[in-house]
Amino acid sequence: MILDIKNLDESQIYKLMISTIVPRPIAWVSTVSKEGIYNIAPFSFYMGISSSPPLIAISIGKKNDITKKDTWKNIEEVGDFVINIVDYDLVEKMNITALPFDEHIDEFKEAGLTPIKSDIVKSPRIAESPINIECKKFAIIEIADMGLIIGEILRYHIRDDLINEKGYVDTSKLKIVGRLGSADYCLITKENIFTLKRPDKG
Ligand SMILES: Cc1cc2nc3c(=O)[nH]c(=O)nc-3n(C[C@H](O)[C@H](O)[C@H](O)COP(=O)(O)O)c2cc1C
Repeated sequence: MILDIKNLDESQIYKLMISTIVPRPIAWVSTVSKEGIYNIAPFSFYMGISSSPPLIAISIGKKNDITKKDTWKNIEEVGDFVINIVDYDLVEKMNITALPFDEHIDEFKEAGLTPIKSDIVKSPRIAESPINIECKKFAIIEIADMGLIIGEILRYHIRDDLINEKGYVDTSKLKIVGRLGSADYCLITKENIFTLKRPDKG
């Protein structure tokens, strides 16, 4: 089957993209508004850009194609955010935070999550998440209707048992989930991780 973009509508293109860019990592982003209201939302159009400096990018849309989503607005106005890792035990709570709550609603309370103070940034961390990553706004680039949020990583908080002696987070212990197409997700388990060493040049 050949599908030419010019013959597809927006929803068909979206479905193809979210079911072929898979599995996607989820940035579960906690922020605070300039009025002091806490916010949380998941984003899977999310990627690493560079490790020196340590930069990541998240693509955030608008509510009803008009108003910037609360996360975008908060990062723009306050200047920082926290990325929290979603493990399997947290998926239901993550899903609640994807609901379009009014900007005056504290989403920690709605999802039954515990905010804890960050060390460097104003945005709170999610206590229940095994890894919190404090980030500051590096740049926001408006592309079409999206805000491409570029953040610089300032500090990691990692549950002690998760980091191995080589300095990697042990993903076999993390029960981390990824996003697929539609409402599907995947779970990384020890059984479905494999190692592929690069061949020697010879
Ligand atoms: C797993 C998952 C991934 C999502 N990824 C994105 C994304 O990459 N960009 C986006 O704009 N919305 C994404 N959404 C939808 C937002 O989470 C949703 O619009 C949320 O209400 C935004 O909240 P906010 O207005 O508090 O920022 C995703 C939702 C889920 C459940």
